[in-house]
Amino acid sequence: MTDSANAAGGVPAGTRYNLVFVPGDGIGPEVIAAGRRVLEATGRIFGFGFDWREVLIGGAAIDAYGVPLREQDLGVCNDADAVFFGAIGDPRFDDPKLKVRPEQALLALRKGLGLYANLRPVSVQPVLRASSPVKEALLEGVDMMIVRELTGGLYFGKPSERRDGPSGREAVDTLFYTEGEIRRVVKLAFELARGRRKKLTSVDKANVLNSSRLWRTVVDEVKTEYPDVTVEHRLVDACAMTLIQRPAVFDVLVTENLFGDILSDEASVLAGSLGMLPSASIGEKRTAHGLHGLYEPIHGSAPDIAGKDMANPLATILSGAMMLRWSLGQPAAAETIERAVTAVLTDGYRTQDLLAATGSAAGLKPVGTQEMGDAVAAAVQSQGRVPAAGGGRAAARTGGLR
Ligand code: IPM
Ligand code: MG
Repeated sequence: MTDSANAAGGVPAGTRYNLVFVPGDGIGPEVIAAGRRVLEATGRIFGFGFDWREVLIGGAAIDAYGVPLREQDLGVCNDADAVFFGAIGDPRFDDPKLKVRPEQALLALRKGLGLYANLRPVSVQPVLRASSPVKEALLEGVDMMIVRELTGGLYFGKPSERRDGPSGREAVDTLFYTEGEIRRVVKLAFELARGRRKKLTSVDKANVLNSSRLWRTVVDEVKTEYPDVTVEHRLVDACAMTLIQRPAVFDVLVTENLFGDILSDEASVLAGSLGMLPSASIGEKRTAHGLHGLYEPIHGSAPDIAGKDMANPLATILSGAMMLRWSLGQPAAAETIERAVTAVLTDGYRTQDLLAATGSAAGLKPVGTQEMGDAVAAAVQSQGRVPAAGGGRAAARTGGLR
């Protein structure tokens, strides 16, 4: 390694990344502001920086332009090194009769950028075990990666419409997959499993759905290429139960779009709050530093607490760490943020969601969104620049994918 290359290996010092940030709706702007401050603090320590460009999407874009996502803004996201995304959804658009909805923008963005795999890591910070309603003993060793197919399945199948039928109003959504769509996300999940504990759980509803039977067939075909990975098939209903009863048995899970949406919210209960889980959405496209991607917390826009400085920014901050790892070639910086998050939680900092189960016990510091962000940024600074763990853990995060 030379002086001009950082601990990540290869990215020149002083690199500036072109990032799009999308505050979105509800609590999105608050959590994104905290996330950006943490990224900036991390860049100062590691010697890189960001050129940010804001893009309006969702309710904010409907207000400004009449559409949830403009074509040119999709282009801006496509040209950036990565997209840092807040949250989407606004109750002003909840009327089921409306044709234009904020959520369409996020789906169009995922589809338009070809982000077919959504990675949702689930682990439990030891100091947050008491924040989960699940018994603490069951949380020991929980460390899974949910790989959610993101550009197909029930979210995108056609027809999808409401119409008038012979016996009144009817509506249809379609669960459609090609074998190619299944294979690419399943292969990615196998690669990830290979870099972790080598266990893959494929989740489907093959006892009922044709699409699930094709899914299962493709998994069984792909597994011949990964003899080192143990594969199991689970039905989604039973899997939902095991996720709470014995969550530590899972390593990598791979599943259809809507199943993954539901199971990941369920899994967040293990982590103590929906406000803890980050995500990375990636596809085939590469940039100079890694994979092109979109990084967002798995939670929604939480309109009930929007603008009140109450939201937990940690899922967004951890999504920023995933962005450093997957898209920007900065694994050491990513680990620094993750350690900083653990440090502030160990110091007792808690947003209100994390206090719901425990109350404000002695030693805990109730904080708002921005104070939590500042605490993480300060913890990043006090950690300083530590090289990536290298090999083991760091490589395990991305498997053989980068
Ligand atoms: C998620 C969210 C989104 C989804 C909504 C906001 C459209 O629930 O990212 O999990 O359903 O994908
Ligand atoms: Mg969801």
